[in-house]
Amino acid sequence: MISKPNPESSHVLDRVLVLEMVRVTEAAAIAASKLIGRGDEDAADAAAVEAMRRAFDDLAIDGTVVIGEGERDEAPMLYIGEPVGGSPGKGPKIDIALDPLEGTSITAKAGANALAVLAAAEEGCLLHAPDVYMDKIAVGPGYPPDVISLDRSVRENVEAVAEAKGCKPDEIIVCVLDRPRHADLIAQLRETGCGIQLIPDGDVAGVIATTNEETTIDLYMGVGGAPEGVLAAAALRCTGGQFNGRLLFRNDDERARATKCGIEDLDRIYKLDDLAKGDCIFAATGVTDGSLLGGVKRFRGVMTTESVVMRASSGTVRWVTGEHRTD
Ligand code: FBP
Repeated sequence: MISKPNPESSHVLDRVLVLEMVRVTEAAAIAASKLIGRGDEDAADAAAVEAMRRAFDDLAIDGTVVIGEGERDEAPMLYIGEPVGGSPGKGPKIDIALDPLEGTSITAKAGANALAVLAAAEEGCLLHAPDVYMDKIAVGPGYPPDVISLDRSVRENVEAVAEAKGCKPDEIIVCVLDRPRHADLIAQLRETGCGIQLIPDGDVAGVIATTNEETTIDLYMGVGGAPEGVLAAAALRCTGGQFNGRLLFRNDDERARATKCGIEDLDRIYKLDDLAKGDCIFAATGVTDGSLLGGVKRFRGVMTTESVVMRASSGTVRWVTGEHRTD
């Protein structure tokens, strides 16, 4: 199907080959895959970061990392503010949110759903989220506007989604990160009678699962990383769906970090367009097998990768299988 031109379509992003973004996530996933099941989170992350950093050099963009591996003094590569791309000062100005290895401990333990992910948008279109927690609720496409809200109770959200879906609350499945901090959320969900899928890590995949009918997950709820919230929101901008996120702060240092990122209202509820606006691209490659994508596989002399790349303005979702010679 040929996508209709959309007024929101960005000429800046037009100049970037959307598929080229997949090369970047592929490179990170392949590098991290060599460390699957080795019990070394840092080594897996470092391999993904280094490979992603190198792959950016082949893109003809004047990119800036707005969500990355941390502040300049704490991350050697892909730090926030780092220029990336092979055409500094000449190529289109693109803001990049990235997580070279979303699911470091999943990879170390050879679990499911580790991804290499990035989102790209015109300068100024992605929220510069600090590395703090975010309370999140997300639902896939096809629901009436504002079917979910962080201002409503857990029960109200589950019941609203069930009613819109035309089923009972006990037929709804909610994905939640398996963390002690979610004990109260899980207890409230149990009272509604809904099913809960607990995931050990990887809430970008958890949010995207709400858009994928094959997963049976209807809703995502709970607290995870704010940077991952922006990445997940960029994906939902492309597939359709709804998202609410509210930053959570454990101390003054975290509040100061948010202020440094330009955030004025610390209690604000962010919706999709507040996190990723205008046209944007989301790309992911599977590191380990998961609900969204298969992981990197090795056969004699060949590695295969599974990736997805999406664009908000056209709503195009492309599934890309790569074969890469190991030599
Ligand atoms: P990384 O592997 O990228 O560090 O993140 C994994 C993850 O599970 C995210 O998906 C999630 O948002 C965050 O960690 C949750 O943080 P915590 O492990 O502190 O609960």
